[in-house]
Amino acid sequence: MDLGIKGKAAVVTGASRGIGRETARQFLEEGVRVVICGRNAEALERTRAELAQQTGGEIHAVVADMTKPADIARLIETATQKLGGVDILINNAGQMYSGRFAVMTDEGLKEQLETKLFGFLRAIRLVYPQMKAKRWGRIVNLIGGAGKEPDPYMFGSGITNSGLLNITKSLSTEFGEDNVLVNAVCPGWVATNLWQRNAQGLQEELGVKSEEEARRLAARKNSLGRFGKPEELANAIVFLCSERASYITGVSLNLDGGRLKGLW
Ligand SMILES: NC(=O)c1ccc[n+]([C@@H]2O[C@H](COP(=O)([O-])OP(=O)(O)OC[C@H]3O[C@@H](n4cnc5c(N)ncnc54)[C@H](OP(=O)(O)O)[C@@H]3O)[C@@H](O)[C@H]2O)c1
Repeated sequence: MDLGIKGKAAVVTGASRGIGRETARQFLEEGVRVVICGRNAEALERTRAELAQQTGGEIHAVVADMTKPADIARLIETATQKLGGVDILINNAGQMYSGRFAVMTDEGLKEQLETKLFGFLRAIRLVYPQMKAKRWGRIVNLIGGAGKEPDPYMFGSGITNSGLLNITKSLSTEFGEDNVLVNAVCPGWVATNLWQRNAQGLQEELGVKSEEEARRLAARKNSLGRFGKPEELANAIVFLCSERASYITGVSLNLDGGRLKGLW
């Protein structure tokens, strides 16, 4: 299927690894020109070089911390200069803030809100005027299931994610008349570094002795009984940015192998 986005310009935040990296790779395969960012310069440059070599596409890297407004401004400015504008924004940079109420700190929650809630909002604020002027834009926010179904172990992420779902729906309504589509995806457990960093906490939460057992128990909660792969997330993200998804806005797609059992 021709996705109809060849030549478009995309910014993918947090793309030195995981879901962001795979999303950038698939855009490049589609002929989309891409700018990626991350905080670790070495890892980011390695990814840029590997993806350029693998796909032959146009990709630039900007070291940027999405908790810092000045870095976000520099990222979007550089993308605009290098690519001649931004048609697609993938708000992906982030981590999971796990743990129950008893261990949640104000600082931990503030950091997550800065990275995901404010980081996503600030990037949208900068790209929207360009998209509005062209009457074409795609924004996809990477959120997470705890925003829809509160989980005590995911208290901090749940708070952030609910806010992001509200932002997604609200902005999809506001930007609709400009043909700027705003959607979200809610990953379940995906096998990335992020999961790895949470493995020990989850092991304790589930009361099991090994990481393998924690992984098995966590996976059993979804209908497919396994973790997702970054490319399975990227398939849907890239589709939502395509011309084929031209009548889809304001949705939050659960990409979780059937983990959430609610009706939305
Ligand atoms: N994997 C899951 O199971 C899962 C579940 C629910 C939601 N999600 C969401 O999906 C998104 C991607 O997750 P992932 O699993 O692919 O994570 P990952 O493998 O840890 O990759 C995260 C990427 O974001 C970058 N990053 C993190 N904080 C950043 C910041 N402040 N500024 C700029 N870049 C930053 C990281 O690079 P640097 O560290 O070098 O900055 C890295 O490139 C996240 O928003 C996450 O919350 C994932």
